[in-house]
Amino acid sequence: MKDFFAGKVVWITGASSGIGEALVRAFASGGSRVIASSNDHGGLKRVAEECSAMKGSVTCVPFDLADTSGIREIVDMTARKEGRIDILLNIGGISQRALLIETPLSLDRRIMEINYFGTIAVTKAVLPHMIAGGGGQIAATSSITGRFGFPLRSAYSASKQALHGFFETLLIEHRKDNIRVSVLIPGRVQTAISLHALTSEGKEHGKMDDGQKGGVTAARAAEQIIRGLRRNKREILVGSRELLMLKIRKYLPSLFFRIAGRIKPM
Ligand SMILES: NC(=O)c1ccc[n+]([C@@H]2O[C@H](COP(=O)([O-])OP(=O)(O)OC[C@H]3O[C@@H](n4cnc5c(N)ncnc54)[C@H](OP(=O)(O)O)[C@@H]3O)[C@@H](O)[C@H]2O)c1
Repeated sequence: MKDFFAGKVVWITGASSGIGEALVRAFASGGSRVIASSNDHGGLKRVAEECSAMKGSVTCVPFDLADTSGIREIVDMTARKEGRIDILLNIGGISQRALLIETPLSLDRRIMEINYFGTIAVTKAVLPHMIAGGGGQIAATSSITGRFGFPLRSAYSASKQALHGFFETLLIEHRKDNIRVSVLIPGRVQTAISLHALTSEGKEHGKMDDGQKGGVTAARAAEQIIRGLRRNKREILVGSRELLMLKIRKYLPSLFFRIAGRIKPM
């Protein structure tokens, strides 16, 4: 990465693994001051140490996206310490591998809590600091299944679709405050997402799905995201051929509903 974001304070959630981790490396090596968050203290420490070996600046701020009660305090404290927050990349999230008929409401709520409420809680806490600092850039991570329903992903898809409504509104309401907003729409990226996806019993799926194996690397995903952020794109597509499904859903919905149930969901 060139020095486009050098010196910026960039807060990244989901920073201990996959896409978030790749973004931490890219921003830290480009001279940004990175604040790295997830609920995995050990994972964050590993990423921060590896970045500091490359002279990158990474501060770890662990917290659980499922526990929104303490988020504002954590954000206020960190903003005071850092002096400002220029960019917030909401990357943290969890997936699902369960039929909707077998998914208990408690699991729907857990996925919504992490992917939707956790993300908006961080955003609402960071926003006043950005406005006070004269503006900033915020991204949230949806999915191609945030644009259409997909088998075994009812709660996941719903949580990601909800993000579009929130972040589009954020863009409209706060354009006047120089807040730039992007929604990231990944297709398939080779990460641990399917390993940690929740089954109907609330356990981890524990398998690397073929969809993940065949996806772009997390480093490639980070490149695509950074290019989109530089151009201030409202929607940033991340992935490869599977992104064609977005066009099929939009322009050929009958075809989409004929084929969606036949695509291997794992
Ligand atoms: N990989 C794909 O194909 C794909 C496709 C579409 C969308 N996405 C989205 O991309 C984002 C990044 O996922 P990934 O593929 O990089 O998966 P990943 O490797 O599993 O990373 C997920 C990150 O989110 C964090 N996280 C999960 N639950 C959390 C919680 N309760 N509190 C705090 N942090 C939490 C994880 O840290 P902990 O260890 O603390 O849980 C981890 O750092 C997610 O929002 C995902 O939905 C991914």
